[in-house]
Amino acid sequence: MKNNTDTKDSVMEKIVALCKRRGFVFQGSEIYGGLKGTWDLGPLGVALNNNLKREWWKMFVDNREDVYGLDAAILMNGKVWEASGHVAGFFDPLVEDTETGERFRADHLLKDVGVEADGMSLEELDAAILEHKVMSPKGNTLSPARQFNMMFESRIGATAGPEGKVYLRPETAQGIFVNFKNVVDTMSPKIPFGIAQIGKAFRNEIAPREFLFRVREFEQMEIEYFVKEADWETEFEKLRADIVAWHEHLGLSAENIREYEVPENDLAHYSKRTIDFEYNYPGKGFDELAGFAYRTDHDLKNHMEASGKSMEYIESDGTRFVPHVLEPSFGVGRALTAVLCEAYTEDEMNGEVRPYLKLPNHLAPFRVAVSPLLKNKPELVEKARMVFKALQAEFGNVAYDENGNIGKRYRRQDEIGTPYCVVVDFETLGQEAPDLIDTVTVRNRDTSEQERISIANLVNYCQ
Ligand code: GAP
Repeated sequence: MKNNTDTKDSVMEKIVALCKRRGFVFQGSEIYGGLKGTWDLGPLGVALNNNLKREWWKMFVDNREDVYGLDAAILMNGKVWEASGHVAGFFDPLVEDTETGERFRADHLLKDVGVEADGMSLEELDAAILEHKVMSPKGNTLSPARQFNMMFESRIGATAGPEGKVYLRPETAQGIFVNFKNVVDTMSPKIPFGIAQIGKAFRNEIAPREFLFRVREFEQMEIEYFVKEADWETEFEKLRADIVAWHEHLGLSAENIREYEVPENDLAHYSKRTIDFEYNYPGKGFDELAGFAYRTDHDLKNHMEASGKSMEYIESDGTRFVPHVLEPSFGVGRALTAVLCEAYTEDEMNGEVRPYLKLPNHLAPFRVAVSPLLKNKPELVEKARMVFKALQAEFGNVAYDENGNIGKRYRRQDEIGTPYCVVVDFETLGQEAPDLIDTVTVRNRDTSEQERISIANLVNYCQ
């Protein structure tokens, strides 16, 4: 956010309002009063989200020779989650308002009063709540903290017994681990190599909050990168640089990103080392954007033991070993929020505040918008439609906008982050000056400057 005199809180409120007003993000099940922890992406949100995921896939899969793609089923055999340790260890600490029964995360309530509670045991949480006289938001006392498993459970088919129990996956990673052998057998990758997946994950968050930041249904973009144990530190540094490059590609400025070394007592049950990449969200401050973990051989070893199937990698000289794993894990919604926060800009134009999204060209929902100067002049409309079709064939995501006056159209497109607005006018038709025939006005979102460009050069200009 630039040129902004507002408090950071109100900036976030403005972004949330813009998302709703312009069709980026809607509350889930809104007409029924919503469903906490769910959001729906509107027409512009899904365009931005798809662009973000496509760029990620290009950078981490298509443009690399050592990473293979995968799309595993969301529903998996319940034994997967026993072997992975999620049934026994995927918990958050829960406390209840003793009057209303409302549920909260104990560590979050402590954080709200300035106490860092990451990694505390249940006893330590209870003691800290007592010491700092922490109450529920309604001012009531809190129950002792207890562990709450965050996996959603369901039943498969008509089976009533425990054998029918399934979980909605809380991370996409396990779909990759259970397919490790399939990918090795079919693609013959040379170690080190990675398997990448983008897909939905589900967590029964005790207290979903802060827009897309903590939700119950979200998307992850994950890579499990398989290495020899002796190489994990070298490969860790290489992937760490790739993550930095990805955040640069999203247009996130270096001063808004920081790396946080997760302390040992707060590591996930599978991790020996984790770095959180944090973004400086307005009104919230630095918080996790993506995680990068060294998962050792925890997952493959456990699946090998539980399934009885070998998860070994065999080298050309016959050496067999269970690879160790590095895991860059990105939440799509958190990246999308960071991109929107970074892009939100206000400046003054003709004495009025102009809010706009300074999105990178490769992420903007529309690359360019095309308009006829006047919508009641068929010759202008016909030419504008021709230009629109030509640009659409190249970029796909092109808007045709003929409503209201040109100034209003520019404002509308600025607000949703369209980098260029093309206007077809009488000069385009050669009616004003013959040398301007087949040229259009292109107006730049960020500078508001206009240039006369020949239609033949438009695609190049809007790259
Ligand atoms: N496979 C490793 C894993 O899932 P994680 O740190 O629990 O690690 C990875 O999650 C990323 O997924 C986080 O950095 C975050 O971007 C996103 N994420 C996790 N829980 C989320 C939630 N409840 N809502 C939105 N995004 C979430």
